[in-house]
Amino acid sequence: MNKIKLFKEMQIAKTDPRLFSSFLEQMGRAIYTGIYEPNHPAADGNGFRTDVLELVKELNVEYVRYPGGNFVSGYNWRDGVGPKEERPRKLDLAWRSLETNEIGINEFKDWSDLAETKIMGAINLGTGTVRDAAEMIEYTNHPGGTDLAEMRKDHGWENPHNIDLWCLGNEMDGDWQIGQMSPEDYGKKAREAGKIMKLVDPTIETVVVGSSSPEQPLYPAWDRKVLEETFDYVDYISMHRYYWNEGNDQDFVACHKDFNDFIKTMGAVADYVKALKRSDKDIYLSVDEWNIWYLNEVVLKDWEQGPEILEDNYSYLDSLAFSSMMITLLNNADRVKIACLAQLVNVIAPIFTVPGGIAFKQTIYYPFYYFTNYGRGTVLNAYKTHETIKTKYSDETEAVISSIVLSEDETELNVFVLNTDLTNGHTIDIDFSDFGDVEFIEQFELHETDLTLSNTAENPEAVKPRSLKEVKTDLEPGSFTLIRYSLK
Ligand code: AHR
Repeated sequence: MNKIKLFKEMQIAKTDPRLFSSFLEQMGRAIYTGIYEPNHPAADGNGFRTDVLELVKELNVEYVRYPGGNFVSGYNWRDGVGPKEERPRKLDLAWRSLETNEIGINEFKDWSDLAETKIMGAINLGTGTVRDAAEMIEYTNHPGGTDLAEMRKDHGWENPHNIDLWCLGNEMDGDWQIGQMSPEDYGKKAREAGKIMKLVDPTIETVVVGSSSPEQPLYPAWDRKVLEETFDYVDYISMHRYYWNEGNDQDFVACHKDFNDFIKTMGAVADYVKALKRSDKDIYLSVDEWNIWYLNEVVLKDWEQGPEILEDNYSYLDSLAFSSMMITLLNNADRVKIACLAQLVNVIAPIFTVPGGIAFKQTIYYPFYYFTNYGRGTVLNAYKTHETIKTKYSDETEAVISSIVLSEDETELNVFVLNTDLTNGHTIDIDFSDFGDVEFIEQFELHETDLTLSNTAENPEAVKPRSLKEVKTDLEPGSFTLIRYSLK
């Protein structure tokens, strides 16, 4: 039996709204024919696809990270502002694409207002300088009276964008990154960038680049060294994590084990540096890229605008591994304050568009929708027992993983459960007695017997959740469920 006993006072943490964020990189078809397609029948006057906007709004994402990703490390933000007809056409060396700069930070701000999200900005610390970083913040955030703030106004954006969260570069530990650096060199550059950006706008928060994955050769020394250099000028350290099926379905779904270890180690590194600095400041984690991504299969094209790259079509099995990561994020809400699903449209994304045609929901859309809409509140530190399965991580890996969230208004309990066991059903037994009487509201179950099933333009609803009118605690093999209860 898999028991979950809830205690009102046993809590992990309140979720930070920024845990429910995502990412749109200026690459592939994320922007061009993704969110922006002027000739599409559903395009608005600015060329933004309103059908895509509707799906994004349903997802209720708090922040969207922009413009990269690897793209940002070769990007000059000035190329994307001013009259569109004067903007340069550039080589995007990160993704071997043609960048026409039709969309830049101002247009993206308009899009994010329409999508009811905020921007998590990123500055170029690859080819970019500390001065470029400071000037970008002045352009986006300073109200007026300086050359750069007035330039923004001349470009048509009277009010400052007030972007309050900034990434200090991207994956600077990676040999694929334009401008890869040693942790010492990056640490010094990020420190000065963070310092000068905060001089321009003291209200911003900054995220220093941590390890791109635990497989990186310098992990976790990179993170320690970078934090030692930048500690006073940064608020978060980033971590990126992608999983893909390496051949064993059961091991794949158990990726929560590895993800949880990565998060715990990064928290420990941040605490180590805090102690070293004799500081009382906590550095929190920004998991600003997470998802399932078959990065072993990436094939780039040569110098096309908006090429079809990284367009993973997610199977039902992928949505289970995805849910495994998602539950892990919730259960680490005390340490992880920001998390961006990478990405949002077309490029390894929950939303997929056909140029000139429909926009549809990939399999991962559904668990993510439940996470962003019902994961907000206080995550409980429930007492759990569980049956076990054998995976590469351990012979006694939890068969069932869960996260229980008391809603922000404290009127509901939302129980996220994943039966990771692909062979056997399991039963859960939830003891709510500490909360008094609870009443079942509804349950959503995502379950398919064919693990390979996916949604496509021809069959966009092959995989979708079922709404159950009576509570079902006998979990199907390999299934995700959200059970909602109201408190009396
Ligand atoms: O999200 C796709 C890519 O993954 C990003 O550009 C990069 O930061 C990471 O390697």
